[in-house]
Amino acid sequence: MKLANRVALVTGGAHRVGRAICLALAAEGADIVLHYGASADAARRTADEIVALSRRVAVVQADLSSWSAARELGARAIDAFGRVDILVNSASSFVRGRFATASEADFDQAFDVNVKAPYALCQVIAGSMANRPAGDPGAIINIVDEGALSPNREFAAHGLSKAALLALTRLLAVELAPAVRTNAICPGPILKPDRMSEARWQALRETNPMQALGSPDDLAACVVFLAAGPAFINGDCLMLDGGRDWTRR
Ligand SMILES: NC(=O)c1ccc[n+]([C@@H]2O[C@H](COP(=O)([O-])OP(=O)(O)OC[C@H]3O[C@@H](n4cnc5c(N)ncnc54)[C@H](OP(=O)(O)O)[C@@H]3O)[C@@H](O)[C@H]2O)c1
Repeated sequence: MKLANRVALVTGGAHRVGRAICLALAAEGADIVLHYGASADAARRTADEIVALSRRVAVVQADLSSWSAARELGARAIDAFGRVDILVNSASSFVRGRFATASEADFDQAFDVNVKAPYALCQVIAGSMANRPAGDPGAIINIVDEGALSPNREFAAHGLSKAALLALTRLLAVELAPAVRTNAICPGPILKPDRMSEARWQALRETNPMQALGSPDDLAACVVFLAAGPAFINGDCLMLDGGRDWTRR
């Protein structure tokens, strides 16, 4: 197993992509601190699946629109099993709105959950990783979005917030090394958002160079890859989008 005796904190781990990340890390031997916001029942079901893989799991609720709650989550996660080796910032708000109509509340929601919470959590977790033994760095993995790199006009504030999360990744790659490696994954279409029609989702397959859509398991495999090494990968952004042509959104 690639991650035996590791402890991973996964935000937004109750269901959808976060659940796949939790299960993939657990299958590779990691104990899991599973964070959720509102999805308590799904969190319990995913925790049961982790236990079925013979791994330990702690379930922690926190509203990541709050800076202090994010910091408290970090402290509770460290308390759960004595340390955190891997932090995956997957929880995300997905606020719709174009440039002209996005409100201050939309902007705050996007930046609170997608930038400030990962920042506050990284402060706490990285602080606990500062004295790791040489050659055994901790790992932070931030899940960004194509909107970080190319304009998605329907999700203006969301894209800007993910661009800031990518910038945070690159900042921490120099700020926290060599004790911590910080990387990002930039997914294309992985799992249909609830409010998107199936027809619109499937159309993304037709315009993708690979004539395919990604999957939560694809993303989870990338998380395992970045968590397990090679240790020289730091400050990278792994594209998981089938080579998507951004001019054809
Ligand atoms: N799905 C895709 O195709 C796709 C594409 C590109 C990028 N991504 C990125 O991949 C990651 C996972 O994607 P996803 O589709 O699974 O995301 P999602 O369903 O939109 O959200 C993931 C989780 O974020 C948590 N969350 C949101 N606001 C919160 C808050 N205020 N406090 C605490 N938790 C909060 C929710 O947890 P609760 O339900 O427990 O409240 C939710 O389950 C996200 O970072 C997303 O931006 C996904």
